[in-house]
Amino acid sequence: MAIRFSLYYHSKENGEYLQKIINTSRQGMLVDTQSLANLPARVNSGTDVVFLEYQEDDAKLDRWIEKTAADPKSPSIFLFLHEITTNSLWKALRLGVKECFSFPIRVEEFQEALDRLPTPDASLEVAETTRVVSFLGSKGGVGNTFIATNVAHLLAQEQKGQVLLLDLDLRYGQVIYFYDVQPKYTVIDVIENFERLDKAYLQSLFHSYDKYLSILPAPSRLEEAEAVSGEHFEKVLRYLKNTRLFSWILLDCCHQMDEVTLKALELSDDILLVTNPSIPALSNAKKLLELLHLLDLGGVRSEVILNSWQKRGDLGEAEVVGFLGREITSKITFDPQQVGRCINEGRPMGEIAPRHTVCQELRTIAGRLLGDEAKNAGSGLKWIKRLVGKS
Ligand SMILES: Nc1ncnc2c1ncn2[C@@H]1O[C@H](COP(=O)(O)OP(=O)(O)OP(=O)(O)O)[C@@H](O)[C@H]1O
Ligand SMILES: [Mg+2]
Repeated sequence: MAIRFSLYYHSKENGEYLQKIINTSRQGMLVDTQSLANLPARVNSGTDVVFLEYQEDDAKLDRWIEKTAADPKSPSIFLFLHEITTNSLWKALRLGVKECFSFPIRVEEFQEALDRLPTPDASLEVAETTRVVSFLGSKGGVGNTFIATNVAHLLAQEQKGQVLLLDLDLRYGQVIYFYDVQPKYTVIDVIENFERLDKAYLQSLFHSYDKYLSILPAPSRLEEAEAVSGEHFEKVLRYLKNTRLFSWILLDCCHQMDEVTLKALELSDDILLVTNPSIPALSNAKKLLELLHLLDLGGVRSEVILNSWQKRGDLGEAEVVGFLGREITSKITFDPQQVGRCINEGRPMGEIAPRHTVCQELRTIAGRLLGDEAKNAGSGLKWIKRLVGKS
């Protein structure tokens, strides 16, 4: 099993040296490497070990190490010291560091340190099944990404299995801003390296937001989106399902019914249609629902999420239900201030306002995904094949 490292170096030369050491070990796999200047405030706990090139007399760094080591959910900390002395070892011990090394690091010594690490809970390694959930906005700007990113985070917080959020808004994907992260790789890297993929390599391409939540962003450049076909996406998703690395794969779909979106719906276990109570969004939602109703959906579960809901809005719930001809499964309250704050700070609601009404409403959606209703993966969306005229 791979041991995932995040490496923070002071000098580039040492960074390269430590990278080599990690790569020559049996299980070491580098998932992030940065200069110490970019040490994130919060540890990317999807990694198993943080390897730091230690700097003496850096009180800020000491505080960071101490705080991180004190959190039982944090990865283990390894230090690379310029010189190992009794004093430095005592200090490291006091800060909560797991292992200390200095130049030259012997391969066997490093391997022994890896073997001493606590064995991760094996039950987390393989999901029983992978449930694929598509979030589909009825129209641009209805809050699809806000809901998908927050539900993914709340679902991961339950710690019942690994969650992957895949940004399928290939042209204008914005998932990374909702979490304020800068992943190294995107869906393009997964597609380009598809033939070389194995479980460990695949894992290294995902950005770990925390221990239970991984992110695969949309391409960073507009023209790259054109290179992704429905066929590519299907291969990747099927492969991902086979690896059983994730219990849930959530897809933030683009609201245009393009080839990739249609493929996503076809392969989904759940389709969560997001709309708001405005006539344009509702009329699009109605069209989509009519389509879903007319055609054979097999075991796919669908629900309607009414976002930006106001009790005293122009339309009452009965009018919305009457118009759509369909019950509303969830309502998410309109709160521009709190929602705006989350989005602008790039932090999910579960972190900054876990008790807020909107967060509780979002948690209910995550709760439904925890249940095991309708798990027949994309069994019957033959209509989609007819629509796109592709197999
Ligand atoms: N419950 C809510 N209350 C108030 N404002 C909201 C709410 N949900 C979303 N918004 C606002 O709607 C805007 C659009 O949200 P978001 O980007 O999630 O929509 P989208 O459907 O993904 O849009 P796009 O089509 O661009 O992908 C956000 O900037 C946010 O401020
Ligand atoms: Mg969006």
